Amino acid sequence: MTHTLTIRRPDDWHLHFRDGVMLEAVVGHTARQFARAIVMPNLTPPVTDVAAGAAYRERILAAVPDGLEFTPLMTCYLTDKTDPEEVRRGFAEGVFTAAKLYPAGATTNSDSGVTDVANIRAVLEVMAEIGMVLCVHGEVTHHAIDIFDREAVFIEQILEPLIADLPDLKVVFEHITSSQGVAFVENASANIAATITPQHLHLNRNAMLVGGMRPHAYCLPVAKREEHRLALVRAATSGSSKFFLGTDSAPHLQSDKESACGCAGIFNAPFALESYLAVFDAENALDKFEGFASEHGPDFYGLPRNEGQITLEKRETEPVPEHFMTSLGPVVPFHAGDRLAWHFAGQLPG
Ligand code: NCD
Ligand code: ZN
Repeated sequence: MTHTLTIRRPDDWHLHFRDGVMLEAVVGHTARQFARAIVMPNLTPPVTDVAAGAAYRERILAAVPDGLEFTPLMTCYLTDKTDPEEVRRGFAEGVFTAAKLYPAGATTNSDSGVTDVANIRAVLEVMAEIGMVLCVHGEVTHHAIDIFDREAVFIEQILEPLIADLPDLKVVFEHITSSQGVAFVENASANIAATITPQHLHLNRNAMLVGGMRPHAYCLPVAKREEHRLALVRAATSGSSKFFLGTDSAPHLQSDKESACGCAGIFNAPFALESYLAVFDAENALDKFEGFASEHGPDFYGLPRNEGQITLEKRETEPVPEHFMTSLGPVVPFHAGDRLAWHFAGQLPG
């Protein structure tokens, strides 16, 4: 018997679309499943002002395949030099939905990021005043801090002081990977929420390192011990409105991943909902999926929930392709070669 699940149309609250050829190759995968996505600004050069945000939004819209309705929600990449009035204007004009804090050097294309949050104090004050969400890549970058501890140390050294200083600021602690991240968000005020990726629900650090180095399981923040994965599964499937869907789908060419210095990022957009559903189903928490995928995110951002519904089916199908071809070369998706039980079966009219 086919088992089906129908939910309100979901959104992706953390996503990398890239630009140019890669953007063209990946945008349809997200637009097929999601109504909206918070689009990360870590292009080269990064999206640091309103004009760049508006232009990038146009390039994304032009790349959406015909027949799909999709709204990109843009973010402003914060640097030490960001002008608070530029951020205020971008939000007022409806170009920027949120702004993104990358600690300088934390991840892909974060070199122009913030070297000290004190440098963006005036920007954050404006954001708190206007109710604009700060999306945070929550890892310290000091070379002396072990990579597996960088999220926990970020909470203590940066995030706790920041929200004590600006309690009205709305913060999304993005792609959390640790039990410390879960506990911090659970105990924080209603202004603090978190996104959780499919890969951090499926993988612990063994997936990256046992039996050989597995570059396609490498993303930032890195997957941690099993106890942390279990904390994330518990949080995502708990029904708490503080946790919502953010894939962090981050396409890199296969040749850039399988290299002596492989890029961080997992391309999960083609089967994002299927990947999450495997976890919710295993936890007997299918009834919690709609909140996580379609309700908690817009509620936190103060945006309307989507109209319309989608249906997912549990049935036998083909394995996930080993790669997707672009004119630059192949990109390997998350779950390549695996069979996923759930399948996106399409949208129902709103
Ligand atoms: C992202 C990317 O490739 O842009 N990589 C990743 O491992 N998640 C950047 C990021 O979100 O850290
Ligand atoms: Zn990301």
